[in-house]
Amino acid sequence: MSFPQTRLRRLRRTPAMRRLVAETRLGVDDLVAPLFVREGIDEPVPIPSLPGVVQHTRSSLRAEVAELADLGVNAVILFGVPEHKDAEGSGASDPDGIVQVALRDLRDDLGDRVVLMADLCIDEYTEHGHCGLLAPDGTVDNDATLEVYGEAAIAQADAGADVCAPSGMMDGQVLAIRDALDDSDHEQVSILAYSAKYASALYGPFRDAVDVHIADGGDRRAYQQDWANAREGLSELREDLMEGADMVMVKPALTYLDVLTRARAEIDVPIAAYHVSGEYAMVHAAAERGWLDLDAVALEQITAVKRAGADMVLTYFARRLAELLQ
Ligand code: PBG
Repeated sequence: MSFPQTRLRRLRRTPAMRRLVAETRLGVDDLVAPLFVREGIDEPVPIPSLPGVVQHTRSSLRAEVAELADLGVNAVILFGVPEHKDAEGSGASDPDGIVQVALRDLRDDLGDRVVLMADLCIDEYTEHGHCGLLAPDGTVDNDATLEVYGEAAIAQADAGADVCAPSGMMDGQVLAIRDALDDSDHEQVSILAYSAKYASALYGPFRDAVDVHIADGGDRRAYQQDWANAREGLSELREDLMEGADMVMVKPALTYLDVLTRARAEIDVPIAAYHVSGEYAMVHAAAERGWLDLDAVALEQITAVKRAGADMVLTYFARRLAELLQ
């Protein structure tokens, strides 16, 4: 018997056949759109390092989320850009803070049609740009920060968030937030924990988007994870599940697909991956030079993230992909 040389290629012959045997299907239901809303502006402000992404006004945000919903994207995550920052990041828990008013707007407009997630951190609201409160010696004070995270969670839940998504990488943050939510009659609000979040250089464009500059040339390596470590990422995921996380996240996405795959093998709750600002910006920069096909690379990358184990992907490509997937 001669061995058939085309054995594996038979099933790749036509588009219909390829669709039939596809192991991974990317759909609009997999997408979560990260959106920025800025206090005190009358017109949306483009973010140069994130082409196609803007800082929204309250009203342009409402329009964008309605359009996303019409395209089938039924989850968004909000980030706030406040007019004033302070040492404690008080805008994060102010009932009139920009994310809280935006959540109320969207809940009024859309009811339960869209899952409203709120990033829960204080770096956008602090003058020093760190994700936690600073101790007198300038280091981030873990336990003092947990208190303000609890307050922010209550403010977000009061404003209508379905999901609080703590991204500050403080130890014990999920438990503190779960307790705060339960004690304030918000047992229904779920927690998407940024669990395996790495101290990545790929967040650069995001920090432009939220106007965050870490004081004194500092960085987040004392609380975000070292990119050398995968097992430690799994410990973070397990810890967050024990503390009560309903969903967990690996972030960034493409440089941590191994972590994602290992998490998928071990963990049964929904897993999100965040295809972050730098990952998006790189594709755009190359596409602008004519070096890459933007749509094809976006589809390939986000499908790969799903193939590696993510149930949902936070991505600035959400709108574009939803248009392509119609
Ligand atoms: C922290 C936060 C960051 C991102 C999401 N939440 C920035 C950081 O940790 O410095 C980055 C997202 C991206 O790069 O797209 N609040």
